[in-house]
Amino acid sequence: MKFPSLLLGLHLAEAATLGSRTAHKPKTSQGSWTRQSLIGQGPRQEHSVTSIGSDIYLVGGVAYDSLSVPETLNRVEYYNTEDKSWHVAAPLPVPLNHGNTATVDGKIYLLGSLSGAMDWVAMNSSYVYQPFNDTITPMPNGTARGSSAMGVRDSKIYVAGGMTILQAYEGGHQDSVSMVSSYDTLTDSWDIDYPPLPEPRQHVGGAVISSTFYVIGGRENGIHQYHNTTYALDLDNPVEWKELSPMPTARGSLACAAVGKKIYCFGGEGDRSNPQQIFHETEVYDTTTDSWETLLPMEVPRHGTGATAVGNKVYIPGGGVTSAFYPVGIMDAFVVDGEA
Ligand SMILES: *[C@@H]1O[C@H](CO)[C@@H](O)[C@H](O)[C@H]1NC(C)=O
Ligand SMILES: *[C@@H]1O[C@H](CO)[C@@H](O)[C@H](O)[C@H]1NC(C)=O
Ligand SMILES: *[C@@H]1O[C@H](CO)[C@@H](O)[C@H](O)[C@H]1NC(C)=O
Ligand SMILES: *[C@@H]1O[C@H](CO)[C@@H](O)[C@H](O)[C@H]1NC(C)=O
Repeated sequence: MKFPSLLLGLHLAEAATLGSRTAHKPKTSQGSWTRQSLIGQGPRQEHSVTSIGSDIYLVGGVAYDSLSVPETLNRVEYYNTEDKSWHVAAPLPVPLNHGNTATVDGKIYLLGSLSGAMDWVAMNSSYVYQPFNDTITPMPNGTARGSSAMGVRDSKIYVAGGMTILQAYEGGHQDSVSMVSSYDTLTDSWDIDYPPLPEPRQHVGGAVISSTFYVIGGRENGIHQYHNTTYALDLDNPVEWKELSPMPTARGSLACAAVGKKIYCFGGEGDRSNPQQIFHETEVYDTTTDSWETLLPMEVPRHGTGATAVGNKVYIPGGGVTSAFYPVGIMDAFVVDGEA
């Protein structure tokens, strides 16, 4: 149950200076970073991030308890980006981490997650936030998972890949799956009849733009088994996944969000080039040209968080600043130039 004590010795200042690797020269013309206020209820990681209008929601996750042991949370809170205030929302019915969330028509859906003490196993429980006390149809038998790529098109939420177990201790086992499903928010029903991902992925980025579901990077059965793949499924004719241009920096536990026709991806876990093993890269995929660009890196590199856009700002609340656990309360935003 012990986590490495070296993590406690890390100062944020050190974390902020990570990332000397400069394989790809960042482009400074397309965006900038702004630091936002600290998370109201304190540090967390492995939570899910989504937004309702201009409010950024943080759902579940993991924080240290009073004995500095990682504890799974049922806490839900949101940040009002207009008046810059934090608010406590109704808690989840159960504590969970690595939740699969998406917002449709002003409601947050949680479609599977992981939960448990240190063996985090998949839960099929699914909820809709109004607040999160309303249970919806669980994930069909055999499809329960957390840490999946998520995308929304009209009334449907798409879920690709994920994992069913993560033993959160040194040498612990984790798996990855390639299954793909969708949940229809209008009929409260699941469809599991989609082609699987070309390879299993968890801790993976995802977004739908126009009629295409993109699944970016992610890893297989361990922190260092990460990939640079960009997979795409045409939702009008979902018969096969295509492999598009790979991202410049392969990584898992990254945070991705769509703004306009582009998908912005931040951070990640498992970078062997620094002691904290955290990726600092910001890279953007342009769906109109099938090409990637490298932008200004994260000022405080993190993993185990999510990203969500309000207007031209992509918010990234909390996350871990070392591999495995070291949750922080920092929230920053990447301001995308030239988007409304
Ligand atoms: C959930 O909570 C809301 C607001 O507190 C309440 O109106 C609603 O009836 C509750 N739903 C259930 C199923 O308990
Ligand atoms: C779920 O699927 C497993 C096999 O994957 C089967 O053994 C089990 O009976 C099924 N349970 C239900 C409730 O259908
Ligand atoms: C969902 O999980 C619960 C608890 O593990 C189990 O009792 C139930 O049969 C599962 N439902 C489906 C549809 O697999
Ligand atoms: C992507 O990863 C593959 C397999 O590891 C590697 O062969 C390829 O060079 C990588 N592409 C880029 C653009 O880094």
